[in-house]
Amino acid sequence: PTSPRSQLAVIGAGYVGLTVAACLARLGYTVTCAENNPHRLTLLQDGDLPIVEDGLDTLVDDAVSAGRLRFVAAAEHAAEHAGIVFLCVETPQNADGSADLSYVRAAAREVAPHLRPGAVVVNKSTVPVGSAAVIEAVLARDDVSVVSNPEFLREGRAVADFLHPDRIVIGSDDDRAARRVAALYETIDTEVLITDPASAETIKYAANGFLVMKISFANSVAAMCEAVGADVNDVVAGIGLDHRIGPEFMRPGPGWGGSCFPKDSRALVSIAAQRGYDFSLMRGVIEENDRQRERMVAKVCAAVGRSDLGGGAALDGVRVAGLGLTFKAGTDDLRESPAVAILTELIDRGASVAAYDPTTTGDLTEVQARHLGAIQPSATLDEAVADADVVVLLTEWQAFAEVDLGWLAERVRARHIVDMRNLLDPAAARRAGFSYDGVGRRKLNSLGLLLND
Ligand code: NAD
Ligand code: UGA
Repeated sequence: PTSPRSQLAVIGAGYVGLTVAACLARLGYTVTCAENNPHRLTLLQDGDLPIVEDGLDTLVDDAVSAGRLRFVAAAEHAAEHAGIVFLCVETPQNADGSADLSYVRAAAREVAPHLRPGAVVVNKSTVPVGSAAVIEAVLARDDVSVVSNPEFLREGRAVADFLHPDRIVIGSDDDRAARRVAALYETIDTEVLITDPASAETIKYAANGFLVMKISFANSVAAMCEAVGADVNDVVAGIGLDHRIGPEFMRPGPGWGGSCFPKDSRALVSIAAQRGYDFSLMRGVIEENDRQRERMVAKVCAAVGRSDLGGGAALDGVRVAGLGLTFKAGTDDLRESPAVAILTELIDRGASVAAYDPTTTGDLTEVQARHLGAIQPSATLDEAVADADVVVLLTEWQAFAEVDLGWLAERVRARHIVDMRNLLDPAAARRAGFSYDGVGRRKLNSLGLLLND
């Protein structure tokens, strides 16, 4: 740990930075992680985590106790002893859909004068093609190298994804620097692909682009299943068994969301457009995702017998119980959550919404309150479902799958369920007296007969 080569710096302690820092410490390196948000930093220095991420708390605790991980406020203090510096800062979306590189530039500017000669700056943020060159220009140092090393982890499974990745992609014009970064990961058993920076940066966007296309395909097939009376679970299983297609990322739902898919798909369109290519396929996928949300809103209107007036106040007086607020289960992240978008649309149409999510039960942070807007989360599931006219299941938390439907039937005012994650057993819901609508599921009555509505 005394050699600068085994000393690493990580700039940014969000979902990616904190995971990277803790996992690299786990691999035996000494890591200094910089976080310039004072609230986040205080939490980390007090031994608390600013995010919910399975297994991360133990990893951080162990690394801190072993003296292999510490947190500092300034990027320069993390970088000054490090042989390799990871940039893991946010790249949000600009108003025109392009990626905002200002945090990456700022982090590079902060570390530039403090980098040791021969240091390698590794960019892990998701950045437009050509950003490695931008970082080089900001650093303005000919004695350091820049490497692009995109991150493919998922929230909720960040630690497992980082330590057991499907592949590691490294892009650099400097072969020695690329190999030094590859060597960091030598104890991880996976394919390592070394390429040029533009290809590495494109791989990241193309991977996310393909995944959203796959989910939207499943959502479109679900809509088609409803039209023809087929069952999407069987259809997806049937096509997923073909190895060329595969079963992953084919779960129909309320549309994909989160901190990355929406912004990265729009950035992909924007990057292509800037270079004169109209990525119409990706534009279509994004539009399809918007339509999926509209279809979900229409399902709620239909469940309570209100016609969907296409933006009109069709839901006055209707009480909606929203189950789930995060963009998927296993995370506390509310960024671009389909659950929030759909519930907000229901509020705009006149519904009163009570929503419960296991990650928003205490006092809301400022960030949570900003994302939730008009939605007031309930403290308990019991409180959220009381006297509801329709129960709308939006996030696939396991606790919702285990809800006692008999109990639920007694709590609500009218018995309707719209299950946007296909989490519940439709027959069990109907036995408990609910009308049930999922996504692309065949409608069977309690006797197992096909309903013709
Ligand atoms: P995040 O917003 O959770 O974390 C970024 C952190 O960096 C914040 O805590 C912020 O305060 C800190 N920061 C910003 N500038 C800093 C500076 N100059 N010095 C010190 N700290 C600074 O973001 P995230 O979700 O971790 O994503 C980071 C990047 O990784 C983005 O480009 C994202 O697209 C990409 N990515 C995210 C995921 C994911 O699942 N969240 C997965 C793969 C890639
Ligand atoms: C996604 C990618 O899976 C990661 O590989 C990538 O690194 C990351 O984006 C990123 O670039 O930040 P994440 O956003 O954490 O990870 O979550 P996913 O599990 O991919 O889910 C994203 C959205 O798609 C959620 O709204 C989820 O509910 C939805 N989804 C996912 C479906 O509707 N169906 C599926 O089959 C899978």
